[in-house]
Amino acid sequence: MRSVAFKYSKQMVSLFSFCGGLFMHARHLLLNRSSMPRLQAPAPTPADIELMKAAALRVPDHMSLVPYEFLLFEGEARVWLGDVFRAAATQENLGEQAVTRAPQLPLRAPLVMVVVTKYQEHPSVPFKEQFASAACAAFAVEQMAFTQGYGAVWRTGPYAESDTVKDALKVSKQNDILGFLYIGTPPVDVPIKPAKDADIFRQIQA
Ligand SMILES: Cc1cc2nc3c(=O)[nH]c(=O)nc-3n(C[C@H](O)[C@H](O)[C@H](O)COP(=O)(O)O)c2cc1C
Repeated sequence: MRSVAFKYSKQMVSLFSFCGGLFMHARHLLLNRSSMPRLQAPAPTPADIELMKAAALRVPDHMSLVPYEFLLFEGEARVWLGDVFRAAATQENLGEQAVTRAPQLPLRAPLVMVVVTKYQEHPSVPFKEQFASAACAAFAVEQMAFTQGYGAVWRTGPYAESDTVKDALKVSKQNDILGFLYIGTPPVDVPIKPAKDADIFRQIQA
């Protein structure tokens, strides 16, 4: 099948408006979603964020534990998050450059979502399954952002592993920070990356 490689702008997404909601063909989303590291205001609207939430609650989730949570940082709250990163860089000896850079990091997008697990002890759902659900939820948010004409990128780095950051965000030690979703308006159309070519499907013969 020919891969459609044209770029989506917010205006083009609007062309797919259908019954008052934004519509993008599911196959186009699945074959073309790309990350966008360059992001600016405006942030997603509350209505758009509601749809992201709905998508995150649609993912495979064994026993419906909803073992994840998104902590949203917009406006001044991102400054606070930057202060937390700086404290982590200082306390965890990440180096002078990291200390200087830390406060700027959350300002790279108008909305930063910290994706965290909320593991629950369950006889048939080990934590690694719950981690998998949380990762799916993060990706669902990225996908929804793409359909809405926003850009998004999933980042991790030392602050996703930092106990200082976990403490500040009130994430218990046993839980994980899966990453930071940076979401906003792309200053240019999101560049759609070419499809990868890798042999990931291996037919097993009897
Ligand atoms: C768990 C996870 C952590 C990631 N951490 C980073 C990161 O810290 N910095 C970064 O530039 N990209 C990171 N990425 C990769 C980007 O989110 C993105 O997937 C990558 O740049 C490829 O772009 P694409 O999504 O358009 O294929 C991470 C991806 C995942 C799934």
